[in-house]
Amino acid sequence: MNAVIVNNVAKTFRAEKATVAALHDVSFEAAQGELFGLIGPDGAGKTTLFRILTTLMIADKGTASVDGFDVVKDFKDIRKRVGYMPGKFSLYQDLTVSENLSFFATLFNTSIEENYDLVKGIYSQIEKFKDRKAGALSGGMKQKLALSCALIHRPSVLFLDEPTTGVDAVSRKEFWELLRELQKQNITIIVSTPYMDEAGLCDRVALIQKGRILDIDSPTGVTRKFGKPLWAFRADDMYHLMLDLVAMPEVVSCYPFGSEHHVVFRDSNQSAEDIGKRLADKGYVNLGVHRIEPTIEDCFMDLMRSK
Ligand SMILES: Nc1ncnc2c1ncn2[C@@H]1O[C@H](COP(=O)(O)OP(=O)(O)OP(=O)(O)O)[C@@H](O)[C@H]1O
Ligand SMILES: [Mg+2]
Repeated sequence: MNAVIVNNVAKTFRAEKATVAALHDVSFEAAQGELFGLIGPDGAGKTTLFRILTTLMIADKGTASVDGFDVVKDFKDIRKRVGYMPGKFSLYQDLTVSENLSFFATLFNTSIEENYDLVKGIYSQIEKFKDRKAGALSGGMKQKLALSCALIHRPSVLFLDEPTTGVDAVSRKEFWELLRELQKQNITIIVSTPYMDEAGLCDRVALIQKGRILDIDSPTGVTRKFGKPLWAFRADDMYHLMLDLVAMPEVVSCYPFGSEHHVVFRDSNQSAEDIGKRLADKGYVNLGVHRIEPTIEDCFMDLMRSK
């Protein structure tokens, strides 16, 4: 069964002067118990989509359901069964850790004791700070408390909007491990992230940009579709190397990626060695080129270019 169904959802914001189309005709489905990722940069429409699915906002067009309930007609049922961790300001900074958790439990007519088993794995890590104000917690601890608060009423679908943004690498890794644990309890998880490397941790992902879905697939399904050779170039002078590569008619795409430039040629049979020789003739020091496997980010760049 699909826990989340989104059909042709569109949303436009009209301010005094500007009109922003935040979502254009977005459709996807997430199965029950799936860890589904919405992967996209700033302004992609992730938060707008979460607000529609958690019944905080109504779409202009299209339909959506959560656990079989319609987001407009059955909003009360949905509110009881979803957990939502908004990107920002979800905690009461002046309340302590345990007060925040009690508050969310009370909102849903439950208690910490009743559902402690579900949050134990997460909450036990911050319980020793239970009398500290939420505002005084580190980013990683705030995130664990926010997740505990979103879970305390035992939701069947959990919406997490950029839960790892601004969190250190170790806490990010721990957080994804926690999500996998929750998944074992048959909770459906819809999580958004701007970090492309986190896409690989989801069962399936929707790549979203400027309110449009570019692709929906498993992470390996996305990368398998790349379908052409990808090359990584480097040299001491990376700046001029980029300018020279971009200027070559054989190069269809070139962008910085970590310590290298990723390059796609117009012709899949293009010899990278020949290109390397031409660059070497220009006097580049420590020039290197090697074939690489595409990551989700490479696929994102490619899909953005071709749309
Ligand atoms: N209430 C609003 N009024 C006007 N424009 C809005 C409103 N909410 C969102 N937008 C615009 O809609 C687009 C999508 O925004 P949204 O917040 O959904 O994106 P996002 O993917 O969550 O991005 P971010 O990474 O910044 O959180 C953006 O261009 C944003 O400026
Ligand atoms: Mg957002």
